[in-house]
Amino acid sequence: MALRAPDSSSGLRGRCSVPGDKAISHRAALFSTLALGESRIEGYSTAADCRASLAAVRALGGGVLNVAGELVLRPPSWSVGSSVEPLEIDCSRSGTTMRLLTGLLAGRPQAFRLDGDPQLLRRPMARVAEPVRSMGARVELSAAGTAPLLIRGGDLHGITHRPEVASAQVKSAVLLAGLQARGETVVEERLATRDHTERLLAMMGARLERESAGGSALIRVMAGPLQPLILQIPGDASSAAVIAAAAALVPGSDIVIEGVSLNPTRIGFLEVLVRMGAEVDIEVSESPDSLEPSGTVHVRQRQLRAVRVGAGEVPDLIDELPLLGLLATQAEGVSQVTGAAELRVKESDRIKGLVDGLRALGADAEEQTDGFVVVGGTTLLGGVCDSLGDHRLAMTFTLAGLISRQPTRVLGREFIPDSFPGFDECLGGLL
Ligand code: S3P
Repeated sequence: MALRAPDSSSGLRGRCSVPGDKAISHRAALFSTLALGESRIEGYSTAADCRASLAAVRALGGGVLNVAGELVLRPPSWSVGSSVEPLEIDCSRSGTTMRLLTGLLAGRPQAFRLDGDPQLLRRPMARVAEPVRSMGARVELSAAGTAPLLIRGGDLHGITHRPEVASAQVKSAVLLAGLQARGETVVEERLATRDHTERLLAMMGARLERESAGGSALIRVMAGPLQPLILQIPGDASSAAVIAAAAALVPGSDIVIEGVSLNPTRIGFLEVLVRMGAEVDIEVSESPDSLEPSGTVHVRQRQLRAVRVGAGEVPDLIDELPLLGLLATQAEGVSQVTGAAELRVKESDRIKGLVDGLRALGADAEEQTDGFVVVGGTTLLGGVCDSLGDHRLAMTFTLAGLISRQPTRVLGREFIPDSFPGFDECLGGLL
């Protein structure tokens, strides 16, 4: 589907919803394998990445049934495999699937081989392998610290882990291993990351405590029985951010996104949009103590101003930083993102990919080791930009095409459904 640039006088208009939250969907599928009975999930994401987690549940012997739009997840029997060959699990392109599985399988006395697409096999896995090894699991990686990852789980003991990088995936892997370990496992995060794992495990009745102070967090977990999940997953916060960015970018836009996750650890991008001058109204529809707050986001386009984002804010908008780079091209002043070196090890090197792509369209942008600088007030001329097979870059460059003077061709748009199936239809419905 070709997206046409909107009529400059009207911009994007209307209401829309986005697929179920990707981060919550992965966790619902994988955590259900540890529950004492069948979990029931509404709103599970249809993203390709989340299908990889369902495939993993099946590979482990769990049941995945779609009953009248609701996903019914039956945990595996977890009987020890008789084969000496490791059980193969294909994680496709999903880093969340592979990293969370590493923690989940660390307590199982059986061998597993976690494999995936070439893109995933380039990403760092030592960050999850090392802590679960120190808990007692055997994990083998390539010399470069990448998958295929061979894991033989076993008798685990609790540890205190202070991740070197702010990563919700690392935290989640250690907590999942901790649920199967003797004694207490503690994760101390210097910078708190998205807290879906803590919320879902608490909902399942896990013995878990979380303390947070001044941007950091400490989570303790102990082994114990887990109840099945009964869950309605709200719309994906990061997909909503793409639509919000489109509205903030295209003159005259006024849109509403309904039923979206408003988890405070996921709305950093909306907060930055407000700082940049967009008009953003957030309405929480669930009671504040519900598992995952959700509601509507109303965005009206206004002249944007430059923004600075530093390390402390990065975890709450890590996946939205490419969008921020694009918006910065249209803001008054020079924007800068620092403390975001993690972007270099996502589905692509997102710092290089973003800067190269924006420059190909005529923007004034520069790479820095741990972020980027973008000069605002530029006209995007259009051209060809390569999303490097990265769904988030592909969506960012597609939005750039909405305001570029000449047509913009984005290479790698076929990967957009990794996180946002129906993106073209959703955006097209507002044009
Ligand atoms: C995710 C955490 C983030 C994010 C990724 C999903 C998660 O990764 O970039 O898209 O679901 O926990 P890191 O934990 O590696 O920062």
